[in-house]
Amino acid sequence: MELNKIAASILFSGLLIMIVSNVVDMLYSPEEYKIEHQTIVAVGSNEPQQKIEQVALDIGALMQNASFEKGKFAAKKCIACHSFEKGGANKVGPNLWNIVGNKKAHLGNSFNYSKAVLEKGGKWGYEELFAFLRNPKAYIKGTRMAFAGISNPQEVADLVSYLRQLSDNPVALPK
Ligand code: HEC
Repeated sequence: MELNKIAASILFSGLLIMIVSNVVDMLYSPEEYKIEHQTIVAVGSNEPQQKIEQVALDIGALMQNASFEKGKFAAKKCIACHSFEKGGANKVGPNLWNIVGNKKAHLGNSFNYSKAVLEKGGKWGYEELFAFLRNPKAYIKGTRMAFAGISNPQEVADLVSYLRQLSDNPVALPK
């Protein structure tokens, strides 16, 4: 009888831990939780990508939680093609000093941009940068930037928080 009770309570607490950790996951990062589950649901079709894009990002909240240091680390993915310091040389891609809030193709004639980027128009605001960095070719069809994109929205936010500081006059954070 005692043994039965002990066994039952071990089983029960295991179950409880499982439930709690699932709920915590969901509360802590509802977006990733959703993505994970959508991806599982849609395995075998080419739908997951589309579904992920449909999840509206709260860029303001992501930027509030963004880490400059992590962004600096994430920027290692870019340095094969981009320099970041003021007046840095263009490589395969343009120098990225003062990119956040600047106009697209911000170096004008001093970099050989693709027609696609030149014709896109507008600025590199937060929404535009998020869209581009998560999936460059989807945001600008025909861009020469041969980079697959970063799917984790928090990593993109970290990166943008790093890019934002690379300026004499960093633009305000989004609300
Ligand atoms: C394989 C090389 C490559 C990698 C890796 C790469 N880029 Fe690029 N990037 C380019 C090229 C080339 C362009 C110009 C695109 C065009 O003209 O179509 C570009 C353009 C850009 C632009 C637009 C610049 C402007 O003046 O409008 C931004 C912003 C950018 N890249 C950010 C990044 C970030 C951030 C990373 C790292 C996560 C990254 N890129 C990784 C090659 C690369």
